[in-house]
Amino acid sequence: MSRALDYLLKARPQAMEAYFAFLKQAGSHLDKKTAALISVITKVHAKTPNGVRQYLPRALKAGASADEVIDALLMAMPALGFSKIVWAIEVILEMNLPEFARYADASAPAAASEWKPILNLRDLNGKTPRYVKIGTLHAYVLKRGDGVIVYDAHCPHKGNLIPETGVADGELACPFHEWKFDLASGNCTHGGTKPLRVIDHKIDGENIMIKI
Ligand code: FES
Repeated sequence: MSRALDYLLKARPQAMEAYFAFLKQAGSHLDKKTAALISVITKVHAKTPNGVRQYLPRALKAGASADEVIDALLMAMPALGFSKIVWAIEVILEMNLPEFARYADASAPAAASEWKPILNLRDLNGKTPRYVKIGTLHAYVLKRGDGVIVYDAHCPHKGNLIPETGVADGELACPFHEWKFDLASGNCTHGGTKPLRVIDHKIDGENIMIKI
Protein backbone atom coordinates (compact mmCIF):
# COMPACT_ATOMS: atom_id res chain seq x y z
CA MET A 1 0.00 0.00 0.00
CA SER A 2 1.24 3.50 -0.77
CA ARG A 3 2.34 6.00 1.89
CA ALA A 4 -0.57 8.21 0.93
CA LEU A 5 -3.13 5.43 1.48
CA ASP A 6 -1.50 4.53 4.80
CA TYR A 7 -1.82 8.16 5.81
CA LEU A 8 -5.48 8.37 4.77
CA LEU A 9 -6.25 5.15 6.65
CA LYS A 10 -4.95 6.77 9.82
CA ALA A 11 -6.50 10.16 9.15
CA ARG A 12 -9.95 8.90 8.02
CA PRO A 13 -10.19 5.21 9.00
CA GLN A 14 -13.96 4.89 8.67
CA ALA A 15 -14.15 6.55 5.28
CA MET A 16 -11.22 4.54 3.94
CA GLU A 17 -12.47 1.22 5.30
CA ALA A 18 -15.84 1.91 3.69
CA TYR A 19 -14.03 2.72 0.43
CA PHE A 20 -12.06 -0.56 0.46
CA ALA A 21 -15.22 -2.51 1.34
CA PHE A 22 -16.97 -0.83 -1.59
CA LEU A 23 -14.15 -1.81 -3.98
CA LYS A 24 -14.30 -5.42 -2.78
CA GLN A 25 -18.06 -5.59 -3.16
CA ALA A 26 -18.10 -3.80 -6.50
CA GLY A 27 -16.26 -6.64 -8.23
CA SER A 28 -17.93 -9.53 -6.43
CA HIS A 29 -19.75 -10.80 -9.55
CA LEU A 30 -16.72 -10.63 -11.82
CA ASP A 31 -14.24 -13.43 -12.34
CA LYS A 32 -10.70 -12.64 -11.17
CA LYS A 33 -9.31 -12.16 -14.68
CA THR A 34 -11.97 -9.65 -15.72
CA ALA A 35 -11.63 -7.73 -12.44
CA ALA A 36 -7.84 -7.62 -12.82
CA LEU A 37 -8.09 -6.40 -16.44
CA ILE A 38 -10.45 -3.62 -15.35
CA SER A 39 -7.96 -2.66 -12.63
CA VAL A 40 -5.20 -2.42 -15.24
CA ILE A 41 -7.39 -0.16 -17.37
CA THR A 42 -8.10 2.12 -14.38
CA LYS A 43 -4.35 2.41 -13.70
CA VAL A 44 -3.72 3.30 -17.35
CA HIS A 45 -6.54 5.83 -17.24
CA ALA A 46 -4.97 7.40 -14.13
CA LYS A 47 -1.55 7.10 -15.86
CA THR A 48 0.15 5.66 -12.79
CA PRO A 49 3.12 3.54 -13.91
CA ASN A 50 3.45 1.92 -10.48
CA GLY A 51 -0.23 0.96 -10.63
CA VAL A 52 0.26 -0.67 -14.04
CA ARG A 53 3.37 -2.46 -12.76
CA GLN A 54 1.41 -3.69 -9.76
CA TYR A 55 -1.85 -4.77 -11.44
CA LEU A 56 -0.60 -6.14 -14.77
CA PRO A 57 1.19 -9.11 -13.14
CA ARG A 58 -2.02 -9.76 -11.17
CA ALA A 59 -4.00 -9.88 -14.42
CA LEU A 60 -1.46 -12.30 -15.94
CA LYS A 61 -1.54 -14.41 -12.80
CA ALA A 62 -5.34 -14.49 -13.00
CA GLY A 63 -5.02 -16.03 -16.47
CA ALA A 64 -5.05 -13.05 -18.84
CA SER A 65 -2.85 -13.44 -21.92
CA ALA A 66 -0.83 -10.61 -23.48
CA ASP A 67 -3.35 -10.48 -26.33
CA GLU A 68 -6.23 -10.13 -23.87
CA VAL A 69 -4.42 -7.25 -22.13
CA ILE A 70 -3.86 -5.55 -25.50
CA ASP A 71 -7.51 -6.14 -26.47
CA ALA A 72 -8.69 -4.68 -23.15
CA LEU A 73 -6.55 -1.58 -23.69
CA LEU A 74 -7.78 -1.13 -27.26
CA MET A 75 -11.42 -1.70 -26.26
CA ALA A 76 -11.00 1.06 -23.68
CA MET A 77 -9.75 3.45 -26.37
CA PRO A 78 -12.87 5.69 -26.15
CA ALA A 79 -12.04 6.35 -22.49
CA LEU A 80 -8.25 6.16 -22.58
CA GLY A 81 -7.40 7.80 -25.89
CA PHE A 82 -4.56 6.57 -28.07
CA SER A 83 -1.72 8.36 -26.27
CA LYS A 84 -2.47 6.63 -22.94
CA ILE A 85 -2.52 3.27 -24.70
CA VAL A 86 0.88 4.00 -26.26
CA TRP A 87 2.08 5.12 -22.82
CA ALA A 88 0.82 1.87 -21.26
CA ILE A 89 2.56 -0.25 -23.89
CA GLU A 90 5.83 1.62 -23.18
CA VAL A 91 5.45 0.85 -19.46
CA ILE A 92 4.63 -2.78 -20.25
CA LEU A 93 7.63 -3.18 -22.59
CA GLU A 94 9.92 -1.71 -19.95
CA MET A 95 8.73 -4.49 -17.62
CA ASN A 96 10.29 -7.06 -19.99
CA LEU A 97 7.57 -9.60 -19.33
CA PRO A 98 8.03 -12.81 -21.33
CA GLU A 99 4.28 -12.82 -22.13
CA PHE A 100 4.79 -9.69 -24.26
CA ALA A 101 8.05 -10.75 -25.96
CA ARG A 102 6.22 -12.20 -28.96
CA TYR A 103 5.70 -8.80 -30.61
CA ALA A 104 8.87 -7.11 -29.31
CA ASP A 105 11.47 -6.14 -31.90
CA ALA A 106 14.35 -8.59 -31.59
CA SER A 107 16.15 -7.32 -34.68
CA ALA A 108 17.90 -4.36 -33.01
CA PRO A 109 21.54 -4.04 -34.01
CA ALA A 110 24.02 -4.58 -31.18
CA ALA A 111 26.11 -1.47 -31.69
CA ALA A 112 26.37 1.64 -33.83
CA SER A 113 28.86 0.90 -36.55
CA GLU A 114 28.30 2.09 -40.09
CA TRP A 115 26.46 4.68 -42.12
CA LYS A 116 23.16 3.35 -43.38
CA PRO A 117 20.43 4.95 -45.50
CA ILE A 118 17.29 5.68 -43.50
CA LEU A 119 15.26 7.68 -45.99
CA ASN A 120 15.31 9.05 -49.53
CA LEU A 121 15.32 12.83 -49.87
CA ARG A 122 12.35 12.55 -52.24
CA ASP A 123 10.32 11.07 -49.38
CA LEU A 124 10.48 14.34 -47.46
CA ASN A 125 7.56 16.62 -48.00
CA GLY A 126 7.71 20.30 -46.98
CA LYS A 127 7.89 20.79 -43.23
CA THR A 128 6.10 17.55 -42.38
CA PRO A 129 8.45 15.25 -40.47
CA ARG A 130 8.80 11.61 -41.40
CA TYR A 131 8.92 9.09 -38.58
CA VAL A 132 11.61 6.47 -39.13
CA LYS A 133 12.03 3.28 -37.15
CA ILE A 134 14.91 0.92 -37.91
CA GLY A 135 15.95 -1.49 -35.14
CA THR A 136 16.43 0.65 -32.04
CA LEU A 137 16.46 3.86 -34.04
CA HIS A 138 13.33 5.98 -33.68
CA ALA A 139 13.70 9.35 -35.37
CA TYR A 140 11.89 12.26 -36.93
CA VAL A 141 13.41 13.50 -40.20
CA LEU A 142 12.43 16.77 -41.83
CA LYS A 143 13.69 19.43 -44.21
CA ARG A 144 15.43 22.44 -42.71
CA GLY A 145 16.51 25.19 -45.10
CA ASP A 146 18.32 23.50 -47.95
CA GLY A 147 19.22 20.58 -45.75
CA VAL A 148 17.75 18.02 -43.44
CA ILE A 149 17.55 17.56 -39.68
CA VAL A 150 17.16 14.28 -37.81
CA TYR A 151 15.76 14.25 -34.28
CA ASP A 152 15.80 11.38 -31.84
CA ALA A 153 12.12 10.49 -31.19
CA HIS A 154 12.90 9.78 -27.51
CA CYS A 155 11.74 12.63 -25.32
CA PRO A 156 14.65 14.46 -23.63
CA HIS A 157 12.59 14.59 -20.43
CA LYS A 158 12.36 10.93 -19.40
CA GLY A 159 13.28 9.12 -22.57
CA ASN A 160 9.80 7.97 -23.57
CA LEU A 161 9.09 7.60 -27.27
CA ILE A 162 7.08 10.48 -28.70
CA PRO A 163 4.50 8.93 -31.04
CA GLU A 164 3.62 10.25 -34.49
CA THR A 165 0.31 11.45 -33.09
CA GLY A 166 2.33 14.12 -31.28
CA VAL A 167 3.11 15.97 -34.54
CA ALA A 168 0.90 19.01 -35.21
CA ASP A 169 1.36 22.57 -36.49
CA GLY A 170 5.17 22.49 -36.60
CA GLU A 171 5.38 21.09 -33.08
CA LEU A 172 6.05 17.75 -31.48
CA ALA A 173 4.11 17.14 -28.25
CA CYS A 174 5.12 14.41 -25.84
CA PRO A 175 1.98 12.78 -24.37
CA PHE A 176 3.70 11.66 -21.18
CA HIS A 177 4.15 14.99 -19.36
CA GLU A 178 3.03 17.42 -22.07
CA TRP A 179 6.42 18.81 -23.03
CA LYS A 180 6.31 20.44 -26.50
CA PHE A 181 9.06 21.05 -29.03
CA ASP A 182 9.41 23.38 -31.98
CA LEU A 183 10.30 21.13 -34.92
CA ALA A 184 12.22 23.87 -36.75
CA SER A 185 14.70 24.44 -33.93
CA GLY A 186 14.22 21.37 -31.73
CA ASN A 187 13.80 23.69 -28.73
CA CYS A 188 11.39 22.90 -25.94
CA THR A 189 8.54 25.42 -26.01
CA HIS A 190 6.39 24.10 -23.17
CA GLY A 191 6.92 22.11 -19.99
CA GLY A 192 10.71 21.94 -19.80
CA THR A 193 13.99 23.26 -21.11
CA LYS A 194 15.83 20.43 -22.83
CA PRO A 195 15.75 20.40 -26.65
CA LEU A 196 15.22 17.36 -28.86
CA ARG A 197 18.44 15.43 -29.42
CA VAL A 198 19.84 15.89 -32.92
CA ILE A 199 21.23 12.79 -34.61
CA ASP A 200 24.25 13.23 -36.90
CA HIS A 201 23.54 12.48 -40.53
CA LYS A 202 25.06 12.86 -43.98
CA ILE A 203 23.62 12.95 -47.47
CA ASP A 204 24.87 10.43 -50.00
CA GLY A 205 23.28 11.04 -53.40
CA GLU A 206 19.59 11.07 -52.55
CA ASN A 207 19.95 9.05 -49.37
CA ILE A 208 19.89 10.40 -45.84
CA MET A 209 22.41 8.34 -43.92
CA ILE A 210 23.02 7.90 -40.21
CA LYS A 211 25.23 5.58 -38.20
CA ILE A 212 23.33 2.59 -36.90
S1 FES B 1 8.78 11.93 -21.07
FE1 FES B 1 8.17 13.42 -22.49
S2 FES B 1 7.37 14.97 -21.32
FE2 FES B 1 8.08 13.56 -19.86
